[in-house]
Amino acid sequence: MPVILGIESSCDDTSASVCVDGVILSNVIANQSIHEAYGGVVPELASRVHQQNIVPAVQQALLNAKVNKNDIDAVAFTRGPGLLGSLLVGVSFAKAFALAQNAPLVEINHMQAHILAHFIGDHKPVFPFLCLTVSGGHTQIVLVKDYFEMEIIGQTLDDAAGEAMDKTSKILGLPYPGGPLIDKYARQGNPDAYKFPEPQIPGFDFSFSGLKTSILYFIRDNVARNPDFISENMADICASVEKRIATILLNKFERAAKEYGIKQLALAGGVSANTGLRLGLQALCEKNGWESFIPAMQYCTDNAAMIAIAGYYKYLKGEFAGQEIAPMARMIF
Ligand code: KG4
Ligand code: ZN
Repeated sequence: MPVILGIESSCDDTSASVCVDGVILSNVIANQSIHEAYGGVVPELASRVHQQNIVPAVQQALLNAKVNKNDIDAVAFTRGPGLLGSLLVGVSFAKAFALAQNAPLVEINHMQAHILAHFIGDHKPVFPFLCLTVSGGHTQIVLVKDYFEMEIIGQTLDDAAGEAMDKTSKILGLPYPGGPLIDKYARQGNPDAYKFPEPQIPGFDFSFSGLKTSILYFIRDNVARNPDFISENMADICASVEKRIATILLNKFERAAKEYGIKQLALAGGVSANTGLRLGLQALCEKNGWESFIPAMQYCTDNAAMIAIAGYYKYLKGEFAGQEIAPMARMIF
C-alpha cells in the first residue's frame, strides 16, 4: 500500500496530492491570481508565490487525506518541462522533504503526468492508446504504449493550442488566462458565424501562429468599420474561434487514429477542459465506433494528483531519483 506525496509547481499553480495504493485521497491546488494584471504568467512572481504556497499546500493535502507525514513512502515531483524558477521551488521542497523523512524521490515528466491522469479512477484506457495533449505550452499527439513508454507522433511547429486561446482572448481584451473565458462566451454563440482558415501542415504536426494572425486582422478590420464590433459579437467570435481550434486538433487526431489503427482516444492538458473540444472528441469517437477518454475537470489543468498517480506507477517499477537531481525547463520523453 504505497503512500505517495505528489508535488507540482511547473507553472503558476502550486499543488500537492496524496495517493494511497493508486487512489487519490487529496489534491490541493493554490492558484496564483497575481498574474491576471500582467496578461500572462510572470516567471519571477510565480516562483516567489510558489515559495509562499508550497508548505501550506502540502500540509493541507496531508490533512485532507488524513495521512501523517511519517507515512509517506515516496515523494513524486515534477522535474520539467516548465518555468525553471517555478520548478526549482517544487524540486527543492521534494528533496528536503525526502531527506528529512528518509523517503525515496520519484521524478516525473509533467507532460507524461497529464496523460497518466487517465489512470485516476475506474475508466482507464488500455495500452496502446492515443492521447491529444493540449496545454498552454504544448500540443502533441502521443502514442501511449505503456505508462512510461510514449512516442510523440505529432506536435505544434509554433504556438500551442492553449496559447492560441490565450492570445485570441488578449486580442479581444479579455484577462489572462483567456481559454476558460472563450469557452464561457462560446456557449452562447454561433460556431459557424465566422470562418477562420485551417492550416495545411503535413503529417500529424500542427501550426497555430497563422490562425492567430488571421484572427488579429479579422478583428482589426471589423473594429475599423465598427468600434463596438467585439462587444456586439463576443459570443459568435469566441464560438467560431473555439470551433476552428477544436477542428484543427480533432481532424489530425482522427487521421492519426486511423493511420495507427487505434480505437481508444484520450484528451489531456489544460485545453482538454474546453467544452467544444470535449464534445467534439465524443462525437468523433461515436461516429467511428471508438472509445473516448476525457479527464474530469479537476485533472485537466495543472494538478499534483496526476504527479502522484504517475509517481505511484514509477514507484511500482522501482525507479527512483537521487538527491543530486535538478529541474529541467525543457524535457522530452
Ligand atoms: O495544462 P495547463 O493548466 O498548463 C500548462 O501546462 O500549460 O494549461 C493551461 C492552458 C491555458 O492556455 C488555458 O487558457 C487553457 O489551458 N484552458 C482552456 C480552458 N481551461 C484552460 N482553454 C480552453 N477552454 C477551457 N475551458
Ligand atoms: Zn500542464
